[in-house]
Amino acid sequence: MAAIEMKHIVKKYGDGFPAVNDVSIDVADGEFMILVGPSGCGKSTLLRMIVGLEDITSGDMIIGGERVNDLAPRDRNLSMVFQNYALYPHLTVYENIAFPLRLAKMKDSEVDEKVRAASKTLDLDEHLQRKPANLSGGQRQRVAMGRAIVRDARAFLFDEPLSNLDAKLRGQMRTEIARLQKQLGITTVYVTHDQTEAMTLGDRVAVMKRGILQQLATPRELYEQPVNLFVAGFIGSPPMNFLPATVEGNEITLPFGTFPLPPAKAERTAGKGLLMAGIRPEHFEDVSVLHSDEVDTARTFKAHIDVREWLGDQQYAYVPYEAEAKVQDQLRELARESDSDSLRTQLVVSLDAASTVQEDSDTTLFIDTDKMHLFDPSSGENLTVGL
Ligand SMILES: Nc1ncnc2c1ncn2[C@@H]1O[C@H](COP(=O)(O)OP(=O)(O)O)[C@@H](O)[C@H]1O
Ligand SMILES: [Mg+2]
Repeated sequence: MAAIEMKHIVKKYGDGFPAVNDVSIDVADGEFMILVGPSGCGKSTLLRMIVGLEDITSGDMIIGGERVNDLAPRDRNLSMVFQNYALYPHLTVYENIAFPLRLAKMKDSEVDEKVRAASKTLDLDEHLQRKPANLSGGQRQRVAMGRAIVRDARAFLFDEPLSNLDAKLRGQMRTEIARLQKQLGITTVYVTHDQTEAMTLGDRVAVMKRGILQQLATPRELYEQPVNLFVAGFIGSPPMNFLPATVEGNEITLPFGTFPLPPAKAERTAGKGLLMAGIRPEHFEDVSVLHSDEVDTARTFKAHIDVREWLGDQQYAYVPYEAEAKVQDQLRELARESDSDSLRTQLVVSLDAASTVQEDSDTTLFIDTDKMHLFDPSSGENLTVGL
């Protein structure tokens, strides 16, 4: 096991385009680090530079305290688990796991000891004599991990290992990978474009966009304190709502009303003109399910619900609103950047399951402006981070 330090890593491919642009990430020994971002943001390139499959244009890659820029992949002793698991179809599970040990010409008795230990950890004992084709996706994943375990690799590297699986299996495998990683305590770097995977698996998450690291933080911090519009819109499902806003005194004006704003947020944003307000769906509520003494009437507004999705334990309601063309363009640009299509000029609010709001009707909603973030619309910077 080893820590991985990436210092000012740059990768330029032939055409000079920086696929990875000055990225610094420190992965602690035993840590589960996620690299997440939309397709093409440089995640695989970065992973391939860690493992040695891609030359590093500039910067230092340090593994276990040693600079490895010029080390061949086999000398880095890392284990890469690919999307297709790279199992040998003609070999049994046993021999697939044993493969790296056979290559190293290890004695049969030692091989057997290591394979059986790995198989026990991975719950593969019953399957050792089967061929990969007869296994489920989850079992294949475990065989691939078994191969990494017997090698005593210093770190596991995963590149979107679950993206070919159906939703249910993906959920199961997610839990399984998380459990195994904890149990084995092996330093892990895991690439995904799926923000749910990123949030549920990682100790920390590095969010990337177009080769540039946007934020490196725990899932909770990313969710609650995104540093910019991109991270705010990328992390969370359904995504954060973005609304044009102006702040005057301790009040904020949104498309559907003017509300009190906590003084600290008002101070940071005073005199900045048109802002982008970000507020998550769960920071709205149907006033009729709240106790009357909880409701600050200054922070309620009448909303026209056009669609409602009832999920049993909660429900989403959609509230369209008008915005000027400039704001609409900006929302479209944000949606495009994060590979999402859901940032339209409508609010998505998450309501208590007990709410009986009706479609195509007016209802009174509470908006929790304490939880709101305010972004500079041109730089995207979160002006209220930490508040
Ligand atoms: N071998 C290559 N030659 C030239 N450009 C590449 C190569 N591999 C990737 N790229 C470019 O580098 C960028 C990042 O790619 P990649 O790391 O695969 O992104 P991700 O894994 O986040 O989807 C993309 O713009 C991609 O087109
Ligand atoms: Mg990739």
